[in-house]
Order: sequence, then C-alpha cells, then structure tokens
Amino acid sequence: MARGKAKEEGSWKKFIWNWEKKEFLGRTGGSWFKILLFYLIFYGCLAGIFIGTIQVMLLTISDFQPKYQDRVAPPGLTQIPQIQKTEIAFRPSEPQSYSPYVVSLNRFLEKYSDTIQKNDLDFEDCGDVPSDYKERGEFNNEQGTKKVCRFKREWLGNCSGILDETFGYSSGKPCIIIKLNRVLAFKPKPPKNDSLDKDVMIRYNPNVLPVHCAGKREDDKDKVGTVEYFGLGGYSGFPLQYYPYYGKLLQPKYLQPLLAVQFTNLTTDTEVRVECKAYGENIGYSEKDRFQGRFDVKFEIKSS
Ligand SMILES: *[C@@H]1O[C@H](CO)[C@@H](O)[C@H](O)[C@H]1NC(C)=O
Ligand SMILES: *[C@@H]1O[C@H](CO)[C@@H](O)[C@H](O)[C@H]1NC(C)=O
Ligand SMILES: *[C@@H]1O[C@H](CO)[C@@H](O)[C@H](O)[C@H]1NC(C)=O
Repeated sequence: MARGKAKEEGSWKKFIWNWEKKEFLGRTGGSWFKILLFYLIFYGCLAGIFIGTIQVMLLTISDFQPKYQDRVAPPGLTQIPQIQKTEIAFRPSEPQSYSPYVVSLNRFLEKYSDTIQKNDLDFEDCGDVPSDYKERGEFNNEQGTKKVCRFKREWLGNCSGILDETFGYSSGKPCIIIKLNRVLAFKPKPPKNDSLDKDVMIRYNPNVLPVHCAGKREDDKDKVGTVEYFGLGGYSGFPLQYYPYYGKLLQPKYLQPLLAVQFTNLTTDTEVRVECKAYGENIGYSEKDRFQGRFDVKFEIKSS
C-alpha cells in the first residue's frame, strides 16, 4: 500500500514537471506557447467584435433624436401638490393643515411666472386657443436651441394662486394641478369626438388632449360635486401646440402645459377618492404603474 502511494506521488510530481521530456503539466514549452497564442488571438478578436459593435451603435444614436422610440412607455400623469400616499386631508379653518399643499403649489408654479418667461430668444407666444402640433424642424442642433411656448399662470384662473393665495384650500375648495410628464418627441393624439362619453366631450376640441376627473368608485361619484377646470382657452386638457417636446438639450426652458382642477363642492368629513384620467389614442393605462395616463387622489375635508 505505502509503496503504491509513493509511486502515485512520484507520477503526480512527474506530471507537474517532467525533467526528462521538459514538460510542464504534460505539455512542452512550445505547446504551451501555441495555446497561449491561440487564446490571446481568440479573445482579442472577441473583444474587437464587441467594441466594434458598440461603436457602430453609438454612431447611429443621436444625442437629440430618440432611435428606439416605439418602446417608450406612454407618459405618466402627475399632480401637484405632490404628496405622500396621494391623500389630501385638511381643515379649511386651520391654515397650518393645508399650508404644505399651498407651499408645494407655489413652488411648482414659480417656473410659470411671467418674469421667467420674458426672454424672446427662448420663449414665444403660441396663442391662447388650442392649435395643432408645433413642429420645430429636425431633432438636431444645427439651428441652435429651439424656442418654447409660453404658458401663462393666469390661465389657471381660480387655481393660479393669483386671485386666491390659498388655491381654494381656505374655503374648502381645493385645487390640484395636473401635468403630463415630458417625453421626447411624443405627440399626444386626442380621441375621436364620438368615441367617449358625454362628460368628457362637453368641451371637445380636436387640438386638446382631454383630461377628466370623477369619483373613482360608484359611491364616490355623488360625493365629488362640481369640478371646475382651468386650462388654456378654457379647455380641460393639454393643447397640442406644446408638443412635440425636443428634449433637455434643444429646449432647456420647456414648460409643459398645465391643467388646474378645482373641487368646489366636495362632501366634507368623509373620504372621497377621485380619479383623473387623460384620454387619447396613444395614451395607455397600466395596472402596474398607477400614474400612467391617470392617477387617483383621496380627499378628506374636515369641517370642524
Ligand atoms: C372663481 O372664484 C370667484 C370668486 O370666488 C367666483 O365668483 C367664480 O365663480 C369662480 N370661477 C369659477 C369658474 O369657478
Ligand atoms: C362632438 O360631438 C358632439 C355630439 O356627439 C357635437 O355636438 C359636437 O359639435 C362635436 N364637436 C366637434 C368639434 O366636432
Ligand atoms: C353641493 O352638494 C350638495 C350635496 O352634496 C348639494 O345639496 C348642493 O346643492 C351642492 N351645491 C352646489 C353649489 O352645487
């Protein structure tokens, strides 16, 4: 037994370094050199192909224009004030109970003040009635940056914070502001006039992507009360002349069109769940993403 083991060890050592044949691990130096050379070239070529492919990809991708746009998810719809758990609960008689909402609305609307939109190099007037998409040429910077449409804060009427500094909260008529998240080159397509129910189509305009807010569940519907909409031209939606968006590089000053919604007769002392939804041929909704094309918000106004 012991002799067998010694012999085994001997052959093992011989395998690692064989003096007689000058072999290391069963191969000669020349053989090892060929193997190394082979793998060097092999992996060199693999790396070359990999880098080449990436280079070609980068060459075809422009900084300005999206290449694989068909995979872009439809834009999200979001509301201001942006709040935890999307619940707006306050007592009109207690300013500190709603001041976070007012602060949030004011901070957001600073971007929309007249003083910021003065510059005629960056901004232009695109009319105060809805009109068609405003194409501004190719998605490149050959003509420098592109102008953006002004959006006047005063169009938000009773929700502009100009007439009522508390955005209706002090009188139990809370405002929210809705925007469609910016998506490069996206052109929202309004629905056909006859494809929706009457509520949404009351103020139909072919150049407006309509947004409608209503009670989420059946028993919310009669608690929501009157809903007032304030947007460009008095339409409840997003006018098309603000699209397409050319991106951060070409339109650094871009302002999304806004829609303000005021709930003037919400039932008090109860939870009311409201859903706001944008309607359009290329606006989708998702079970997984609660903000895709719609959102819901819970109100609770305490009367005492
Ligand atoms: C805006 O507020 C004023 C004053 O509270 C009110 O008279 C008017 O009816 C409101 N406008 C709308 C469209 O609700
Ligand atoms: C939309 O349809 C309604 C009736 O379904 C009609 O009264 C209204 O004039 C239409 N509006 C436009 C802009 O076509
Ligand atoms: C507000 O809603 C109540 C019912 O919830 C209704 O009786 C009242 O007439 C409404 N007021 C207005 C101005 O619509």
